[in-house]
Amino acid sequence: MIFLAIDTSCDETSVAVTDGLHALSNVVSSQVRYHKAYGGVVPMLAARLHTERIDAIVSLAVRRSKVSLEDIDAVAVTYGPGLAPALQVGIVKAKALAEGLDLPLYGINHMHGHVSSVFADAEPTFPLMAVLVSGGHSEIVIMQSMSQCEIITETLDDALGEAYDKVAKMLGLGYPGGAVVSKLALQGDASRFHLPTPMARRDTPHLSYSGLKNAVRLLIKDHEPLSGKDVIDICAAFEHVAQASLLKKVKMGLENHPEVTAVALAGGVASNMRLRRLMRQLVSEYGLKLLVPPKKALCTDNAAMIGFAAHLLVAEGLQPVAHAELDRSPGLRLDDTEDFR
Ligand code: KG4
Ligand code: ZN
Repeated sequence: MIFLAIDTSCDETSVAVTDGLHALSNVVSSQVRYHKAYGGVVPMLAARLHTERIDAIVSLAVRRSKVSLEDIDAVAVTYGPGLAPALQVGIVKAKALAEGLDLPLYGINHMHGHVSSVFADAEPTFPLMAVLVSGGHSEIVIMQSMSQCEIITETLDDALGEAYDKVAKMLGLGYPGGAVVSKLALQGDASRFHLPTPMARRDTPHLSYSGLKNAVRLLIKDHEPLSGKDVIDICAAFEHVAQASLLKKVKMGLENHPEVTAVALAGGVASNMRLRRLMRQLVSEYGLKLLVPPKKALCTDNAAMIGFAAHLLVAEGLQPVAHAELDRSPGLRLDDTEDFR
């Protein structure tokens, strides 16, 4: 099935045309330079920029895919989780396209998209452990299939990407800061400063990053004015404990779920090379393979992953929605099963 897929859940306006698990086009227009001045995403600004751009991005995605509008079989759109005003823009556009072209419309969970990004041009495998780490989410999910998900670990406060972004902001490194912090961390001495590993107690499967963020804040305060060496050593100390905490919970999940056949690492933070290496090491101890998105453009928010998810979910019986009924669901979770009842 050829899908025209749309994602406007946060600050990327993205449209793709996909054929099964293959992207024929995947256009992503980032708004990051507009939100930079505010140090984070401003929902109403995101919605306005999506509205200004969506028509051009749809046209470009169709043109790049080299398929004609008549070849498209269905429209898929992210309806949650995400920023409500931003989601709304993609939903309205998807409805108009489905209406105008007389095509079925599918509402897709953005997190199903992130999981599916690892299956691009590959063979899906279940039961799967999905480790989803982005600016808005940090969760570990056991998936018997796309439609049977159990969230075994989630963050009680900040997401991992959000923690990177906040540390970057405190160090004056700009927004978003994950990539910069991890690059500087490579040159730093992680043992110079001691930071507590969050949620280190063995008996909780959950994550928490706000305590670590505060510990970094105090560390900065104690050492101000910071030298260049201080900054890179703080980045290294933060990265080490932030990742150690996630790896502990992944290990706990693997101990409790010997049935999984592979582990997927997806979301914006999945582009972190150190995290990939440590995850690969860990899962190989359990005889498993680590699946990651094959391209960086599939790690961060994009619409191709929404088309892949739609393909896999339709194969599991997902039904199209009546155009009038599709509504945004900003707090949607992977264990919400209403679509499959
Ligand atoms: O998936 P994504 O594009 O958007 C959300 O759905 O949130 O993820 C963006 C997040 C940002 O917080 C960014 O700082 C983080 O991913 N990120 C990284 C790296 N590259 C992006 N975090 C750590 N290391 C990286 N190399
Ligand atoms: Zn995302």
